[in-house]
Amino acid sequence: MALSPEIVNGLLEGLQAAQQGLRSLLSWLGLAPEVYGQPAWPFAHRLSAEMLLVDAGHARRVLTALGASVFAAGLVLWSFFWRRARERLWLLAVAVLVLTPWPDANLLLTAAVPTSLHQSPSGFSAQGIVRGQAVYQQQCIRCHGTDGRGEGPDAASLPMWPPSLNGALLWKRLDGELFWRVREGMQGRGGVPTMPGFGHVLNDQEVWDVLDYLQAHAAGQMLRESGAWERPIRLPALAVRCRRGLSGEHSTHDLLGQRVRVVLPSAAGLPEQDPRLVDLVATARPQDAGDDPECLTDGPASMAALALVLGVPQTELPGYQMIVDRAGWLRARGLPGAPAWSEDDLVCRSGVTGPAVTKTNATPGEGLDALVRRMDAEPVRLLRGGFPH
Ligand code: HEC
Repeated sequence: MALSPEIVNGLLEGLQAAQQGLRSLLSWLGLAPEVYGQPAWPFAHRLSAEMLLVDAGHARRVLTALGASVFAAGLVLWSFFWRRARERLWLLAVAVLVLTPWPDANLLLTAAVPTSLHQSPSGFSAQGIVRGQAVYQQQCIRCHGTDGRGEGPDAASLPMWPPSLNGALLWKRLDGELFWRVREGMQGRGGVPTMPGFGHVLNDQEVWDVLDYLQAHAAGQMLRESGAWERPIRLPALAVRCRRGLSGEHSTHDLLGQRVRVVLPSAAGLPEQDPRLVDLVATARPQDAGDDPECLTDGPASMAALALVLGVPQTELPGYQMIVDRAGWLRARGLPGAPAWSEDDLVCRSGVTGPAVTKTNATPGEGLDALVRRMDAEPVRLLRGGFPH
């Protein structure tokens, strides 16, 4: 019998918090020195989340072992208050621990590096993504290719082909482990170097930037190839100017908590404003932004980052729209010239399968209504290396 997703999620979140907490404690005790700007994970192993996701039997054993440990600890605690039964309680605690089916350490743990638990400090900003693109073009293209598929000019002469960076690969890894691999390089079986390290050419910030670029690029390529953001991707943090509440220069971070519609205006003009959405007009030509847009972003970095996550060249941006949920995830895409929103435009969905999508000739408001309702009802969560992020 499979465990319910809520239980597995709770388990993953708990283990992740315990692991991060242990690192903080060690760092506070001076036992986890800083590497690359954050406390190091001092062990050769970390908890593996992936196995918990794929192997329900393993997840159940981990839960049972946790329950048994808590129970045994409770018995020992109790024994301090009930002296006469102390020995019996201790025996019982030992018996519980011995009889518990413990999870297999090979499934529970996986190899770790000092930066395994590092989190990207970049904020996924458009500026960083654009800087990362420049790094990619200088350092990575020769093997990974202009399109990230791994077919660069030097690829064929390597001991192994570089993987395609356009699919789900990056989402399967922890940020900190990707960071380590780019800084320190990678080895194949028997220690044969497969990818060189870039620690001597790139600083920390440049490595985080190039990883942000790769993620934005991969999301756009997925959308182009399969018509969906199969892995969740955030709206890059863009510099914006808004008319209400937020005056002056701000970031789209300040819009979290509201649903945002990103509008790339075309000759056809701007869509009607909608009370459910904050409109963010993105254009390199301020004359296209209408009289008084709710929010405006017009920098070259914003346009470049939006083109990347949409998987189209910048010249094709006019006419696209995107809807961002309250948590900042890109959820829906409207194609240029499309008459109205429908549920089909929800191209980033949670695993939850909703009611069958019914195609109706809805009026613009109704289609958007259904879409927004469904978006709110099905929030997405980001998994990195199997851990909620
Ligand atoms: C000399 C060729 C070469 C260059 C240059 C190169 N890579 Fe790689 N890269 C590889 C190979 C080969 C692999 C597969 C290595 C393996 O699986 O052992 C790889 C793997 C990767 C991976 C996947 C790691 C994983 O967890 O599976 C990422 C991400 C990556 N490279 C990023 C970059 C970035 C960013 C740059 C530029 C800063 C770069 N690479 C430059 C050859 C290269």
